[in-house]
Amino acid sequence: MSVKRIGVLTSGGDAPGMNAAVRSVVRTAMFHGIECYGIRRGYNGLISGDLIRLDEKSISHTINRGGTILYTARSKEFMTEEGQQKAVSTCKFLGLDGIVAIGGDGTFRGARALSKRGVNVICIPATIDNDISCTNYSIGFDTAANTAIECIDRLRDTMQSHERCSVVEVMGRNAGFLAMYVGLAVGATAVLVPEKPIDFEKDVIEKIRRARFNGFTHYMIVVAEGSGSAADIASKIKEAIDLDPRVTVLGHIQRGGVPTGRDRVNATKMGYLAVEMLLQGKTNRIVCTKDGHFTDVAIDDGLGMERRIQDIEVEVLAAMTGV
Ligand code: F6P
Repeated sequence: MSVKRIGVLTSGGDAPGMNAAVRSVVRTAMFHGIECYGIRRGYNGLISGDLIRLDEKSISHTINRGGTILYTARSKEFMTEEGQQKAVSTCKFLGLDGIVAIGGDGTFRGARALSKRGVNVICIPATIDNDISCTNYSIGFDTAANTAIECIDRLRDTMQSHERCSVVEVMGRNAGFLAMYVGLAVGATAVLVPEKPIDFEKDVIEKIRRARFNGFTHYMIVVAEGSGSAADIASKIKEAIDLDPRVTVLGHIQRGGVPTGRDRVNATKMGYLAVEMLLQGKTNRIVCTKDGHFTDVAIDDGLGMERRIQDIEVEVLAAMTGV
C-alpha cells in the first residue's frame, strides 16, 4: 500500500515526551515524502475534522517541551458508534492512509476500534503511570518519576529539620509502578501500592517504629493514589502513633516539565518505528519495548497482558525498609 498522507494524535493524560514523539512522526514522514497532519484534542479532532498540517517548522523546538502541542482529550463521543463512524469518515474524506495514536490504554482501545473499521493505526505508549502491560517503557514515566523524586528530596529537607513524618501521594491511577520506583529512589520509610494489600500495622506503623528505634527522627511514607488518599493515611498514622504527619499530594506537577533525555530519545525512536510500520502496511499494533529491545504487538494482545510490580522491587523495598 502506498502511504501519502498520515495523521498523528495524542490522547488521554498528557505525558512529557509526547511532543518528541509527534516531532519524530512528522520528521520521519517528511523523510519519506509523506504529508503529515496533527489531529487536535485526541479522537475529538478526528470526529470534528480539527487537523493542522505539520512540517519541520511547526514542530521545531518542541522536543524539549512537556505537555502536547496537539492538545489532548478523553473523548466521550468517540466511545459511541456514531462518533467512531464520524472519525472514519474524516479519515476517508481527508485521505489519511494511517494514523499514529500516542497515549495509554484508553487511546489503544480507540485505535483498535478505528482499525476494525479499516483505518490503519499504530499506537505509541505514553503515560506517566507506566501501566501498559505489553511494554516495559512508556513515554513520560522517566520524567514524572524524576520530578516526583526531586520534589520529595526537597520535602525531606524540611521534614528532617522539624523531625516530622511526611505522607506523599504519587499519581498512577490504579497502578503502583510510579510510587514504587519513586519510593525506592527516595529511600522511603514505607511505600503503599494498590497491587499489594495493605496491613497498616505491619506495612506502616511497624516500619516507622523500627526506623525510630534505629535513631531516625523523620519518616517518608509514599502512597500511590490507587492505594487511598495520603490524608487518610496521615490521620490513621496520627491515631496510631504520637506523630502529626504532613500531607503532600504531588498531583499534576508530575505530568509537566521538560522531558528527560531518556524520554526524548525513546519517544523519537518510537515515533520513527510507528511511521515505518505504517509504510510496511501494518495496523492495529503497539510499538513497545521488551527485554531492552523495541518490538511491536497486536493491540488485542497488548491490552490483554498483565503488568505486575516486579518481584525484585518488592524484595528490595522489604530489605530497605525492614531494618
Ligand atoms: O493517567 C495519567 C494520570 O495522570 C493518572 O496518574 C491520574 O490518575 C490521572 O491521569 C489524572 O487525570 P486528570 O488529568 O483527568 O485529572
